[in-house]
Amino acid sequence: MNQTSQKTVLITGASAGIGAATALEFARSSDRVILCARRRDRLEILKDKIEADFSSEAQVLEMDVSSRQSVDLSLASLDDSWRRIDILVNNAGMAAGVDKLADGDPDDWKTMLDINVGGLLYVTRKILPGMLERGSGHIINVGSIAGHESYPGGAVYCATKSAVRAITNSLRMELVDTALRVTTVDPGLVETEFSIVRFKGDKERARTPYQGIEPLVGKDIAEVIVFAANRPPHVSLNEIIVMPTSQASATLVSRKN
Ligand SMILES: NC(=O)c1ccc[n+]([C@@H]2O[C@H](COP(=O)([O-])OP(=O)(O)OC[C@H]3O[C@@H](n4cnc5c(N)ncnc54)[C@H](OP(=O)(O)O)[C@@H]3O)[C@@H](O)[C@H]2O)c1
Repeated sequence: MNQTSQKTVLITGASAGIGAATALEFARSSDRVILCARRRDRLEILKDKIEADFSSEAQVLEMDVSSRQSVDLSLASLDDSWRRIDILVNNAGMAAGVDKLADGDPDDWKTMLDINVGGLLYVTRKILPGMLERGSGHIINVGSIAGHESYPGGAVYCATKSAVRAITNSLRMELVDTALRVTTVDPGLVETEFSIVRFKGDKERARTPYQGIEPLVGKDIAEVIVFAANRPPHVSLNEIIVMPTSQASATLVSRKN
């Protein structure tokens, strides 16, 4: 992978929020992007926007990262010219509910584990061997402040993001003799569809985490991801925590009203 040449970037969870913003930022810097998510219609709209606004190309891959079969089949459908993936952004993820463990729904736990941990592993397992063969590549995982600090009502989500951190760190050690880089970008509160998903479509409740603060937006995280990807080859940004200025920890937030 050469600093000046166009790179091919595969982004999971590109149909919304941080993933969609990341696709736009890579396209802005003339890299070509593979957009993955379950909602193909959203991805097609993003592809059209990218190709209209930037001198870049995009590919759409409908994929459910929680299903190994879906990951394998959709990656296998990639045209030869798109198989050399320089940068993988493992961004697809979600939280389901804020129940304490005693009241938690085991189906929600399984969904979070399957998407946030299983999904990251399945996609990485398919793309990493090609990077190793070519001796170049960068894997950027989207973790969370929840991977650094637990909070009540977040046991399983925090566990999944701690797992993302652990996997990122193990992988970096496994790759130390190669030129490959592994980064985790760990945001605090970002206003996306994340809370609408967490509160199962209750839009009123989904606004509460962002009340009285200026939260991050997807573009804030996307710019950090693209910055990490564009460091010189001898520089690895291993772990980046990005918070709104009014958020000091997972639970300490200064609200103005
Ligand atoms: N927003 C925050 O405050 C915040 C803070 C820290 C970390 N994060 C992390 O940031 C990442 C992106 O979240 P976001 O805030 O951008 O939320 P978002 O707006 O809800 O976007 C989530 C993306 O993940 C995709 N996704 C979910 N389940 C999937 C599956 N089974 N297979 C494929 N794609 C799937 C969704 O696409 P489809 O539904 O179309 O499949 C969507 O594109 C997540 O890993 C999240 O944990 C978010």
